[in-house]
Amino acid sequence: MKKLLFLGDVVGAPGREILLRELPRLRAEHALDWVVVNGENSAGGSGVTRILADEFVKAGADVVTLGDHVWDQRGFEIEIATAPKICRPANLPAQCPGKTNIITTAPDGSRLLVFTVLGRQFMRQHVESPFDTADRLLRELAGQYDFALVEIHAEATSEKIALGWYLDGRAALVVGTHTHVATADTRVLPRGTAYQTDAGMCGPHEGVIGREVQPVLAAFLDGMPRRFPVAKSDCRLNGVLVTLGSDGLATAAERFELFDKS
Ligand SMILES: [Fe+2]
Ligand SMILES: [Fe+2]
Repeated sequence: MKKLLFLGDVVGAPGREILLRELPRLRAEHALDWVVVNGENSAGGSGVTRILADEFVKAGADVVTLGDHVWDQRGFEIEIATAPKICRPANLPAQCPGKTNIITTAPDGSRLLVFTVLGRQFMRQHVESPFDTADRLLRELAGQYDFALVEIHAEATSEKIALGWYLDGRAALVVGTHTHVATADTRVLPRGTAYQTDAGMCGPHEGVIGREVQPVLAAFLDGMPRRFPVAKSDCRLNGVLVTLGSDGLATAAERFELFDKS
């Protein structure tokens, strides 16, 4: 039996603080074999830097994944080229720097494959089909991993659910990110793939998907552009906790939420 914790988008300094404070304890308390964290909003709310990702790894993350904000921090396109534990969305153009996937090995030799695909519905980037990319990576890397975690970073619930069904029986976990709101549909699909449409976010929940309420609300009211500072209060860790069997699939999955007690 193995335990895997996936945590949704880390948002800004408040998200980083609760993650760095809680992760070492969580890792021990739940006897986690692997922790995977999406860091796409960890640097000021947009993108990530090598220094921040390295802090997550030091605190107990095995892999840091990204999303549509992958290139928001200047110079990250250079930093990512040599980062061993960060992977960029796999279905971006092949010319993009960075790893498309990471295989991370537990002390007993078990191997977890991790990759992210971006959705295509209501998303800005032009990317290869997330279905085709996931299919290709799982096939190409067959034999090199024991469990697969496929993250679908997407806006549309339907696209995420469809990918869950498409990969049922082939991945241990298919989990969505990007909306920053955890969904109440955690389940293990009939062929053994754990699934949740969105993991939610690690960051301040007294806000609008991690940003302060007032500027976002004002922008909806008058349509004028303005800055959206990262919110501060009610920080939570959101994710999915999965129990893995010996057959490469999941035996149980539950929504994970930790409130800030500090
Ligand atoms: Fe995000
Ligand atoms: Fe995103």
